[in-house]
Amino acid sequence: MFATLLPIALFLIAYSVYLFTRRKFTYWEKKKIPHLPPTTLFGNYADFILQKQNLGENTLKVCDAFPDAPLVGAYYGTEPSLIVQDPELIKLVTTKDFFHFSGREISNYIHKEMFTRNLFFNYGDRWKALRQNLSPIFSSSKMKNMFPLIGKCSFVFEDMLDREIEKSSILEVRVIMARFTMDCICSCAFGVETQTMEKTENNVFKQMGDVILDFRPKQAIKNTIRTIWPSIFYGLGFKAMSSEVDGFFNKLLTDIFENRNYQPTSRNDFIDYMLKLKQNNNLVGDSMMNLKSEAGSKVTLEIDQEFLLAQSVLFFVAGFETSSTTLTFTLFQLAKNPEKQAKAIEEVDEYLRRNENKLKYECVAETPYLEACVDEALRMHPVLGVVGREVSEDYVFPSGLKVEKGLRVQLPLYKLHYNPDYFPEPNEYRPERFYGEEKRNVKPYTYMPFGEGPRLCLGMRFARMQMIAGLITILKKYKVELAPGMKKDLDYEPKSIVTQPTEGIKLNFIEREGWQSRLLAK
Ligand code: HEM
Repeated sequence: MFATLLPIALFLIAYSVYLFTRRKFTYWEKKKIPHLPPTTLFGNYADFILQKQNLGENTLKVCDAFPDAPLVGAYYGTEPSLIVQDPELIKLVTTKDFFHFSGREISNYIHKEMFTRNLFFNYGDRWKALRQNLSPIFSSSKMKNMFPLIGKCSFVFEDMLDREIEKSSILEVRVIMARFTMDCICSCAFGVETQTMEKTENNVFKQMGDVILDFRPKQAIKNTIRTIWPSIFYGLGFKAMSSEVDGFFNKLLTDIFENRNYQPTSRNDFIDYMLKLKQNNNLVGDSMMNLKSEAGSKVTLEIDQEFLLAQSVLFFVAGFETSSTTLTFTLFQLAKNPEKQAKAIEEVDEYLRRNENKLKYECVAETPYLEACVDEALRMHPVLGVVGREVSEDYVFPSGLKVEKGLRVQLPLYKLHYNPDYFPEPNEYRPERFYGEEKRNVKPYTYMPFGEGPRLCLGMRFARMQMIAGLITILKKYKVELAPGMKKDLDYEPKSIVTQPTEGIKLNFIEREGWQSRLLAK
């Protein structure tokens, strides 16, 4: 009897799961939005979920099925998501009608752990109050005050490069760049010297970086489950951030606060600013409703250790990897394009001549070609292949399409950045697109490596500052070329949340003539 019932029971269970996972698969058909037929459980993202392609590439594939559709429907696993391809509509989502799209992702779950209570994951009033109060940390005057800390890290970087190149002129660039940017962010954010450039063995900051960026298959599956099926993820007791990292930063911050007697110092780092906020015990900001009415409503958030911890871990996570990866891609492209590199080098030499070899805050404004080299690398290799939004209030697009609160929205960066109508010959590395007069030709809302609108990357100025300082430090003494055997075309790591090459990028560092006259002035 049991033997006969078992297969029937199993069949019924399997069939119920099948029906359950497909229950939302009529969403786009009902709304009459073009979409690909979804597959059970994976929707249109089988390649991403099965770790064959990264999120940006998988999204591009979905977009390519409907190249001219302003809006494309998709199923992210079992969940509907809307891909916005048209720049005018991207403008509505990110900027003009931002009130309806203030969410990032799975907003209902951000309170489930300390880490996701940070600015990046918040939405609505909490996001607005946080953003208003954290923005001054990244103002140009704050960046200028902070620049000497970046300058100090650049001296250490200069020495580290020489030491490493003495051992071998061929370097795995990403590892080296991450040691530099990690030191910059920790010095500026926490006022600590990480020694990542002096000591890699048992370096606890490096270890934390490795834990955070762990993209082994198990971790990648967990990350995916979290974004598609958060109720299962949190129901099983998982967390996006490991307790090891939470614990490490908790202790680090407590020690720093105690060392500073909970009083701001003259260091001008992020911790000083946080301590100033903490002295008030709470933080006040405008309500999102003010975007809709003149009410002038205010929101108050309590500031406790957990609040400070959540923002600090975010700065660490967002601060080093994004910039080190971008530096790596920039150097890779310069190595492949020697004429562009020669132009960048000329500008670096000229900057140093004009400034008596001093690295100053103004270096970002005074090296526009170098900045264009970074911008073009970010066009070709955006750190986030997809910028996410979530509908936070029901919305009706001008076409009449109604979307409900909670719907995922995806802005497809690869699709925009490689569209030949916006960027002719998109596979060519041409920094000139972002240089001088030509820069004006970039159509608004077609280029967004730092996002767009009120949620634009908060650390963009900081990122540019550390990347340009890093590039000047390298190029004043070395030129780079691809190491023997290094592939010219890169594959992206499917398991990583941020765009990463599958294999290390190896470059040959060649000493330039006359470098002795260009050593950084201390
Ligand atoms: C090359 C370097 C970087 C790139 C390409 C980058 C890219 C991005 C992107 C695409 C977003 C999402 C923007 C949006 O939703 O519209 C973002 C958000 C953010 N980034 Fe960056 N980022 C970089 C460096 C940094 C650095 C150095 C920091 C901090 C020290 C930082 C802090 C943040 C924060 C706090 C947010 C959340 C903003 C919000 O949601 O209001 N980023 N970044």
